[in-house]
Amino acid sequence: MADSPKTATLTIGENSYELPMKSPSAGPDVVDISKLYGSAGVFTHDPGFTSTSSCESTITYIDGVKGELLHRGYPIDQLAEKSHYLEVCFLLLYGYLPSSVELEKFETTITHHTMVHEQMGNFFRGFRRDAHPMAIMTGVVGAMSAFYHDSTDVNDPRQREIASHRLIAKMPTIAAMAYKYTIGQPFVYPRNDLDYASNFLRMCFAVPAEDYEVNPILSRAMDRIFTLHADHEQNASTSTVRLASSSGANPFACIAAGIACLWGPAHGGANQACLEMLREIGTVDRIPEFIARAKDKNDPFRLMGFGHRVYKNTDPRATVLKKSADEVLELLGVDDNPLLQVAKELEQTALNDPYFVEKKLFPNVDFYSGIILEAMGFPTSMFTPIFALSRTVGWISQWKEMISDPALKIGRPRQLYTGETLRDYVEIENR
Ligand code: CMC
Repeated sequence: MADSPKTATLTIGENSYELPMKSPSAGPDVVDISKLYGSAGVFTHDPGFTSTSSCESTITYIDGVKGELLHRGYPIDQLAEKSHYLEVCFLLLYGYLPSSVELEKFETTITHHTMVHEQMGNFFRGFRRDAHPMAIMTGVVGAMSAFYHDSTDVNDPRQREIASHRLIAKMPTIAAMAYKYTIGQPFVYPRNDLDYASNFLRMCFAVPAEDYEVNPILSRAMDRIFTLHADHEQNASTSTVRLASSSGANPFACIAAGIACLWGPAHGGANQACLEMLREIGTVDRIPEFIARAKDKNDPFRLMGFGHRVYKNTDPRATVLKKSADEVLELLGVDDNPLLQVAKELEQTALNDPYFVEKKLFPNVDFYSGIILEAMGFPTSMFTPIFALSRTVGWISQWKEMISDPALKIGRPRQLYTGETLRDYVEIENR
């Protein structure tokens, strides 16, 4: 990040403080307040980090006004159309598009790490069968540090590399195992002759009693969903991974923390919540009722799959997914799917409603992904695990970037304390 010739001046009472500014390669300039407490004795206050940059990063850039998402400079729509998930993983991890030799080597490495330690099966069997797959994934990924402790030394670049490959490779196996466990079917082992997305589909939908042919159209659609969710700069789960790893915690523990954060309905859990909302709406004639509820300040209901902290224009991932939903449903012969009709009508109604227009609320990535996943045969409980497995490479790339930075500091926000000040302890009989 280059120093900016500009500076900012902060005036507090009689005193003025000159604050250095930095210019990013894209996006607004930032005011560097890191020395402010030392010089002025004040903190800044920004709950939700609405105006605060928490790190320097070279991985992903979002222009929320233009509705643009770039990974290492490449626009997401080009990556979704011309690239594929493992190539995007390479790009995010290493910063450039691989040569064919590099890509083949990377794909071979990932493919040869897809099996999980056999003992992990027992770990799965300790969960209740009705557990949510996200609950299982949080536990199992956290437990990877007990199974792969030869790659937990974050100060060793080779161990960091191995942990990265293991996480990208094993996450689909773990997500599929979590699914199989909750429906009472046997685990399906990965196969090295299949690509990443086909392997995941097979591990989810094959059963030992019969052969399973992966539909290449569904495999391509699955791969595109993985690609579209691969990274999204400093969102809540990525920031969670960064904060957890700033203490030097092992990568498996940090990714488990990211999964736990992602599960919330305001974040990755919105894809499940969105499909459930579309089902609840059911028919287009009920849309006005739900739009009215979303606008009612006294009703906690929000239009799931709508709105974004950064995008104040269409989420470019939603544009790709809307097209993909049309294609997949047509190819599956279910293009009269009533949920797709409700989704399209709801989108149009909201986009023409002054409330959503004024607040710049547009469909986000979660609006159409659930429709595609449901058409593929996934239950809603698997939507967020699929988001988690796709986002793993983003979390790891950001973790890797942060750990290799010699200026790494433990994350330690300050606070605006509003509680009681010093007072004496009161004996129990006197309270
Ligand atoms: N439906 C109705 N009103 C909304 C919605 C919505 N989906 N989203 C925001 N608003 C209103 C909100 O009530 C607020 O109104 P006011 O200014 O009158 O108080 C205004 O718009 C700004 O919202 P905010 O909550 O201050 O904005 P935020 O940046 O803190 O929240 C958000 C962003 C994504 C959490 C929010 O838009 C939301 O809850 N959306 C629904 C959940 C969702 O789809 N989440 C997935 C996000 S994309 C994938 C991911 O990140 O995982």
